Amino acid sequence: VYVNGEWIDAGQPAVRVEDRGFQLGDGVYEVIRTYRGRPFALDRHLARLRRSAGAIELDMPLGEADLRDLVYEAMARCGAPGEMQVYIQLTRGPAPRTHAFPAASRPTLVVYACPLPPADPAQAEAGGAAILLPDERWLRCDIKSTCLLYNVLAKERAHRAGAVEAILVREGFGVTEGASTNVFGGRGGRVITAPRGRYILSGVTRDILLELAREAGIPVEERPWTAEELLACDEVFLTGTTTEVFPVVRIDDRPVGTGRPGPVVGRLRSLFLANVERYLDRG
Ligand code: PDD
Repeated sequence: VYVNGEWIDAGQPAVRVEDRGFQLGDGVYEVIRTYRGRPFALDRHLARLRRSAGAIELDMPLGEADLRDLVYEAMARCGAPGEMQVYIQLTRGPAPRTHAFPAASRPTLVVYACPLPPADPAQAEAGGAAILLPDERWLRCDIKSTCLLYNVLAKERAHRAGAVEAILVREGFGVTEGASTNVFGGRGGRVITAPRGRYILSGVTRDILLELAREAGIPVEERPWTAEELLACDEVFLTGTTTEVFPVVRIDDRPVGTGRPGPVVGRLRSLFLANVERYLDRG
């Protein structure tokens, strides 16, 4: 694990009790995965990390090239034979506990890689269930903040209901995203997803999938949509770094469309997997 310039064993104590990330959730993060041992869309993740840090007035302690090198070094040190995920977290660092920014603090930067268990292709073929929950998060979901409490509670509720994801619905806005994924609907050959903005995390997988869909001539609508529209879709699916492109076949107790993954998600999933190579390393 890289912690502010040093590599230490994962089991070693590393971060101070008064780190603002630990006490206040005052930090931002990224999760990057590998395909064929190479990081997927690395530059997009690092650019988003820089945006998230900027949004909470944190300076990145390292430049782009150094960060990129750290990601590769974390992967080499992990040395897993299969795929890996790289976790990067930047916090406002240790300081006596106060809410306002401390006069002086040195940000804590942590980077490590760990094995990513292979996804079961049968599961992605079969799809999974989701539940609907009100989106009770704050209004800056575009910042990839470590304050994930509502996301954690929502995902736990989903798992207790035998579902893979909680799809969140913001009062007065509509469907936003999942607890750790972006949400798409398909109807009449068109694809719908919530627009970029403060109510969703603009997922790297989301953006790449939209690019691929447009290239393939699949009409895409990025606009607010309601829970009623979601429930009337023939197909619903999720995207995310580790989720890839995953069909939702039930929402609460109702089947989505035929109750089996449909043709649009099948096509987009294949397109995504077939084009992974284009986005490896800096892509
Ligand atoms: N989650 N929305 C939320 C709230 C997320 O936490 C994530 C990612 C996404 C998808 O973004 P991307 O395609 O860039 O992974 C959407 C990561 C994987 C996590 O917290 O583990």
